[in-house]
Amino acid sequence: MNRERWSSNLGFVLVAGGAAAGLGNIWKFPYIVAENGGGAFVIVYLLCIAMVGLPILFAEFSLGRLGDSNLLDSIRSLARQHKASDKWNAIAWLGLMAVFLVLSVYSVVGGWSLAFLYAAAVEGFGTDGAQSPADFGKAFKALASNPTRSAVWCTLFMIPTISIVAGGIRTGIERVSKLLMPLLMAMLATLIVYGAVATGEIANTFKFLFSPDFEKLTATSVLEALGHAFFTLSVGVGAMLAFGSYLPKNINLFRATLTIVGLDTLIALAAGLAIFPVMLANSVEPTTGPGLVFVTLPIVFSEMAEGQLIGSFFFLLLAAAALTSSPSMLEPIVGTIEDKTSLSRKKTAWLVGSAIWLVAMLQILSMSGQGFGEIFGTNLFDITNYALTSLFLPLGGLLFALFAGWVIPEVLSGASLGPVHPGAFWALRLLLRFAAPTGVAIILVTGVVL
Ligand code: PHE
Repeated sequence: MNRERWSSNLGFVLVAGGAAAGLGNIWKFPYIVAENGGGAFVIVYLLCIAMVGLPILFAEFSLGRLGDSNLLDSIRSLARQHKASDKWNAIAWLGLMAVFLVLSVYSVVGGWSLAFLYAAAVEGFGTDGAQSPADFGKAFKALASNPTRSAVWCTLFMIPTISIVAGGIRTGIERVSKLLMPLLMAMLATLIVYGAVATGEIANTFKFLFSPDFEKLTATSVLEALGHAFFTLSVGVGAMLAFGSYLPKNINLFRATLTIVGLDTLIALAAGLAIFPVMLANSVEPTTGPGLVFVTLPIVFSEMAEGQLIGSFFFLLLAAAALTSSPSMLEPIVGTIEDKTSLSRKKTAWLVGSAIWLVAMLQILSMSGQGFGEIFGTNLFDITNYALTSLFLPLGGLLFALFAGWVIPEVLSGASLGPVHPGAFWALRLLLRFAAPTGVAIILVTGVVL
């Protein structure tokens, strides 16, 4: 069967880099850095990326390239070729379930970023009379707990997501990433330059991000860094495996993977460099948790002379980042069903997308505060998020590391990654076989115990 392929190395790097760089980089990274005290956390995070995230990302891409098929068939045929148990198929099923759930929560937050883009560009923050931090907090809560508004914005986010995947590998996903990724990087660069010039706080921001104070580091910070390394690189769910299966022969996967991880890390750090100076200049503490971009930033924008412009720019950036990631969650399911049935890609994308949209509606309803979708006082949205970061992603990552590290030796070989110094394979194998599983086991155990 003739499988579609990415058109070039640049195409693949922008697609996979775009999938990795998303809400995790721009919404989550800045607030977890702030919550965990800055520099020391950044160092631990970088170590987790290099020692745990990177080897598993190599494994996923390479399994996809070797399997050369959809998520389910890639794992099945590789296991069979190596006379391993069919039980390894569980990795694929777990992944398919995980990407479904990730998109059902991601599309809700993606919808909020569109809502804030609209508010920033059309209404202007603060024009509704909101002034104090509490007012802005209320405005965000009002959106999150209003099912109709959240549902409309979530739908407006799902429609382009589905259309991109329906459009195909090259003509959908690759084309959009090639358009949005350069735009995203240009917007980030503009925001950084603006922050540096207008606020004069760039030196303090550098100090905050890069000078470590290890006293601020706790065991939970380390866990959070490890968990985020998975989320930000999109590993452990099979999304990157699916993208690896569309690799043309001529791409050097070793180099491409390093570029992708570099891009993702750069975009996260750049988000910090863009956000913190404006906060410091306006004397707002950035330690406000998940509300950092949806509550604290609007306060800052409402006080700035160029707030409407900069605010619109920022939320456009956030929405663009989310939209280059969301197709990567739909693709593994659509690619699998398309192969296994006679349904067209277009029909499959809309069917699967609608099913995910339905679950997203349940997520939204569970936040309305009316008792729907609440279990033991926690809403479905928070439960899903928790299950994903402490269970699905690490468990998937563990299985990928074990499968690739111990069962399929050619995952880390010149045949799949390209001509590389043998020492690099040796080091990667060590990380994949030992460091990655240990790191993941720690998240899993503490996630259950704590
Ligand atoms: N890496 C994406 C982000 O940082 C999130 C993601 C997780 C995407 C899992 C796909 C799969 O926003």
